[in-house]
Amino acid sequence: MAKAVLAFSGGLDTSVVVKYLQTEHGLDVVTVTVDVGQGDDYDAIRTKSKRLGAVSHYTIDARQEFVEGYVYPAIQANALYQDKYCLATALARPLIAQKVVEVAKKEGAEALAHGCSGKGNDQVRFDLAFMSSSNLPILAPIRDKNLDREAEIKYAEERGVQIETVAKKFSIDQNLWGRAIEGGVLEDPYAEPPDDAFIWTRVNNLSAEPTYVTISFDSGIPVAVNDTPMKPVQLITHLNKVAGEAGVGVVDHIEDRTVGLKSREVYETPGATCLIEAHSDLEKMVHTIHQNRLKRVMDDEWARLAYLGLWDEPLRRDVDAFIRRTQSVVTGIVRLKMQGGSVRVVGRKSKYSLYNAKSATYGADSTFDQRRAAGFVELWGAQSAEANKLQGYTIKE
Ligand code: ARG
Repeated sequence: MAKAVLAFSGGLDTSVVVKYLQTEHGLDVVTVTVDVGQGDDYDAIRTKSKRLGAVSHYTIDARQEFVEGYVYPAIQANALYQDKYCLATALARPLIAQKVVEVAKKEGAEALAHGCSGKGNDQVRFDLAFMSSSNLPILAPIRDKNLDREAEIKYAEERGVQIETVAKKFSIDQNLWGRAIEGGVLEDPYAEPPDDAFIWTRVNNLSAEPTYVTISFDSGIPVAVNDTPMKPVQLITHLNKVAGEAGVGVVDHIEDRTVGLKSREVYETPGATCLIEAHSDLEKMVHTIHQNRLKRVMDDEWARLAYLGLWDEPLRRDVDAFIRRTQSVVTGIVRLKMQGGSVRVVGRKSKYSLYNAKSATYGADSTFDQRRAAGFVELWGAQSAEANKLQGYTIKE
């Protein structure tokens, strides 16, 4: 029988999809669960897949690949969609899709499948990532049959699919880079998220003791915390813990989805918040005024492309190449202070620092001869003054 390979989380959507592909399409289903640090019980997911009648199941540990290939470039891009969202879900999708395609090739499958709805961003990310590495047809039953939660539960019950009947308070997606919390009471954009929405962050930590952390960067990549060298997965996991404990990393904003809907999004991203704060601060010290200006534009574009599912768009690679080119000097140490849920850079140093204490000082030993500035200022304003005169703008009578 022909096979379809499905990106499988073990939740309601993807469980329904297994049954759907089997019964309505007459396909054998191969399920793939990719570990990007979501911390799920992978044995339980395997058991679920088996119970649903999948012909085989793959669990793929892609955590290191996720950090090195997706999270590090995001750090280098200080990537925050709409200035807030660190793209945890968005970055994982192209990697998960790629793993699904690899399995499909190995299994000689005839279709690829996902359990995304037609309302979200993930359908766009999965479809486009599938399309860039395979010509196989894509099956997305939840979207294509316009199924909502109730219809899914009904479908599952009718076909004897065991599902957790406990009503979930929120819809969660998480991985090493962050935790997204949607739905339930959060659908009212004026309602404050209840404390139990948060698992990674001690939101009410009012401890009087600040937490200090230093992060060492080597060419834009975080390599050590408090001088202890750490491997990629370990470093991010560690920072999530330390910063989460200090209550850092909660984001609550209105987000523009690819499909044009606005959604209220709540995130916990302690590690990402710290790393982006530290990295962008270090960049300001080692890059010139001109580099700093354009870098922000390119960073924003990078985040936009990654969010919109355009990971494989040539422009994303172009922007990425620019960003990578800027990172060779982003080496140094940043000191962070966390307290009461906020994080602040309180110190930075680098062998590539362009900060010149001797020039900048207001003390008597400054090497900066102020008299040289007068001519510069005059020329700096000359063109504006000329234009104002010609156009009849008088600043003062
Ligand atoms: N809005 C975010 C994104 O599009 C997070 C989506 C999280 N998904 C979920 N089922 N909670 O990347």
